[in-house]
Amino acid sequence: MRLSQCHNFHDFRELARRRLPGPIFNYIDGAADDEVTYRRNTAAFEACDLVPNVLRGVNDIDLSVTVMGQKLALPVYCSPTALQRLFHHQGERAVAAAAGKYGTMFGVSSLGTVSLEEARRISGAPQVYQFYFHKDRGLNREMMARARQAGVEVMMLTVDSITGGNRERDKRTGFAIPFKLNLAGITQFAVKPAWALNYLTHESFRLPQLDSHVDMGGGVMSISRYFTEMLDPSMTWDDVAEMVGHWGGPFCLKGIMSVEDARRAIEVGCSGIVLSNHGGRQLDGSRSAFDQLAEIVDAVGDRIDVMMDGGVQRGTHVLKALSLGAKAVGLGRYYLFPLAAAGQAGVERALELMRVEIERAMKLMGCTSIDQLTRKNLRFR
Ligand code: LAC
Repeated sequence: MRLSQCHNFHDFRELARRRLPGPIFNYIDGAADDEVTYRRNTAAFEACDLVPNVLRGVNDIDLSVTVMGQKLALPVYCSPTALQRLFHHQGERAVAAAAGKYGTMFGVSSLGTVSLEEARRISGAPQVYQFYFHKDRGLNREMMARARQAGVEVMMLTVDSITGGNRERDKRTGFAIPFKLNLAGITQFAVKPAWALNYLTHESFRLPQLDSHVDMGGGVMSISRYFTEMLDPSMTWDDVAEMVGHWGGPFCLKGIMSVEDARRAIEVGCSGIVLSNHGGRQLDGSRSAFDQLAEIVDAVGDRIDVMMDGGVQRGTHVLKALSLGAKAVGLGRYYLFPLAAAGQAGVERALELMRVEIERAMKLMGCTSIDQLTRKNLRFR
């Protein structure tokens, strides 16, 4: 199977599965507990039907949106995700370059493997910095100052990861940052020599957003240890208010699900919220963002930019979320599997397929710009 044979999410996932050592594939693919929320994220879109209009003259389609003051050429963006150089040696460089080429926003994670400064140099697209709130307040302030200095546009604080999710697939393989595997896990690396060779012949694994502050204990710290030892579970809305003031630019909370929290996000001065259950990787049984979207948009949509992510695999999924009132839609695994499968070329192909799918679906819906998508275009089963 080659990149040119990948026509959708499922193909990219399959190519990634063939190329990646099992523990890494399962880290990306897996979710929390019984993975009920993970499955629901995509199923939620399938429980909603599109009702098209025809004969409206759809020669020229404008796919651009403005979100948190950032103009995006596409209504989808690459959500920040951790550890990208573990999936493909180009890692964040590939995602930054591909996002730049497609004129859309991308995120660099606190747990990113390329520095936010380097990503900034690679891409002219709006850049988000995904932030976790650390116990060490000095570290938090320093990280924000660094992001501002680098020219990052949007601060995105993840609020659904106050503790690590129960990722049972990772427990089985012993997956940790970067490598701490049990015997079963090591065996799975040995059967993917191409990946191993590629990994070993490129620069060594680092977490440049953190490595001047965090003792990675010789390079090994499990994700759950990072969450339990470094991050601050006592974080409250007051801390967010302080951060928003400190940042002084577009500030967004990722992982808001309730109307009450959406209102508080406005009160503390946020410019955006991302409805998200972290790809089903945190609280299993949590509602899907798409199911929860209408309620949130109705309550706060005129006062804050509402985005969503989770389970998005198709252009029509994006259209459904936009029709409910999302300002933009985040992609995660949708670009990670292509990254793992083929680096920058993979991410570009995935974004191209998504662009084409959205444009085609807009034409078939009888819409020429994103603001023409409304709830009149949707029926729930
Ligand atoms: C995860 C964290 C690191 O989902 O965002 O694995």
